[in-house]
Amino acid sequence: MNAAASVEEFAPAKVNLSLKVLGRRSDGYHQLESLVVFARAGDRLTAHAAADLSLDISGAFGAMLAGEGDNLVLRAGRLLASELGREAGAHLLLEKNLPVASGIGGGSADAAATLRALKRLWDADVSEEQLAALALSLGADVPVCLDARPAFMHGRGEQIARLEALPHFALLLVNPGVEVSTACVFKTLAAPIVAELPTASEAPRFSTLDALIGWLEANGNDLEGPAREIAPVIGEVIAAIGATRGCRLARMSGSGATCFGIYASEDEARGAADAIARPGWWLAAA
Ligand code: C5P
Repeated sequence: MNAAASVEEFAPAKVNLSLKVLGRRSDGYHQLESLVVFARAGDRLTAHAAADLSLDISGAFGAMLAGEGDNLVLRAGRLLASELGREAGAHLLLEKNLPVASGIGGGSADAAATLRALKRLWDADVSEEQLAALALSLGADVPVCLDARPAFMHGRGEQIARLEALPHFALLLVNPGVEVSTACVFKTLAAPIVAELPTASEAPRFSTLDALIGWLEANGNDLEGPAREIAPVIGEVIAAIGATRGCRLARMSGSGATCFGIYASEDEARGAADAIARPGWWLAAA
């Protein structure tokens, strides 16, 4: 197969339907267990063949990244090139549709999309295991974003069990326009260091939406409390989503501040988006 002249990869928003912190590890990272799904909303990454590595950013949230001399997309490109022992030649275009530092893995999804795109653009001989190791070195959420399919995630983010079938549901994502630092949220949580960390639980299975909601009601997001201390508006967002017609569950994703609602149908999710739209809030019925 010849290398392509240009390739495009979608970088969907990652949503943590649940997120349990099992303890802090001696390396400072936290051992997590999380049910992760991917939304229809996302960024878009295009890679064109070129002699040098460059990046142009567009999209609703592009300006927020424009000042960064370095970012995860460029780092992912350089990392893959160095692993392959080749020049990092590619012109990258990132359409940044997702809010930045918002708990839905935008940067991680972009880094994962870059690895996938450049593997194709360069027709690179790199194994899934190599790619997963590179992904983890870029960030804890990057490995799950490589596959971008529903998964039960364990550890720092590197143990991923794919969930084959989930019942149908629709998501509404709402971000109140405040950036929240993941590191700050973990620091506020102040989890104790645990010497003997539990091994991965078996991935749950759900045959109906009721079963999924029941499991989620018993398995929340441990980062929601500390994130609400940092950004109290998160409580307002959850209350607003929870009050919409048809909402089955309202919760925060990742370390926030993006929150989500679960609905039985896309129509209900879209109706909820219309009902709670307000200036400065980003919404996606996804
Ligand atoms: O890996 P990533 O750069 O996305 O993580 C950002 C920060 O979040 C880390 O520096 C760490 O403070 C915290 N984190 C953690 N445990 C995880 C994932 C992230 O403590 N499993």
